Amino acid sequence: MPIMSWNSTLATGIASIDAQHQQLVVYVNDLYDAMTQKKGREVTGKILTQLVDYTVKHFAHEEQWFAKAGYPDTQAHVKEHVDLTNQVKAFGAAFASGKATVDSELMNFLRSWLMNHIMKSDKKYVASLKAAGAS
Ligand SMILES: [Fe+2]
Ligand SMILES: [Fe+2]
Repeated sequence: MPIMSWNSTLATGIASIDAQHQQLVVYVNDLYDAMTQKKGREVTGKILTQLVDYTVKHFAHEEQWFAKAGYPDTQAHVKEHVDLTNQVKAFGAAFASGKATVDSELMNFLRSWLMNHIMKSDKKYVASLKAAGAS
């Protein structure tokens, strides 16, 4: 059972961004599977790294569009990206040194963060980015 699924409430209508959000959902579910199926630290660590790297790439994509669009709410939005990036990188370091494990608390945090961020913050930029030509 996946921990989260893609549905229309998450859609922004910007194809490149929706595709990236869908991929993030896939990685969150992969990480959840690794946890529930008790995959080893090596497999789990690889999925965690993929998720972190892809998240960083996705945030950079959004931020490039903020710059092109002159998106007025850029500062607050980027702060959310930076805060999450710092949190997951800190977790990644703790995981790598054996001080942390992927547990349901982490998974619930990731799922809630992703859903809330897409539905509340990402949706705010849609009109502005579409006007700038984002597709
Ligand atoms: Fe996003
Ligand atoms: Fe975002």
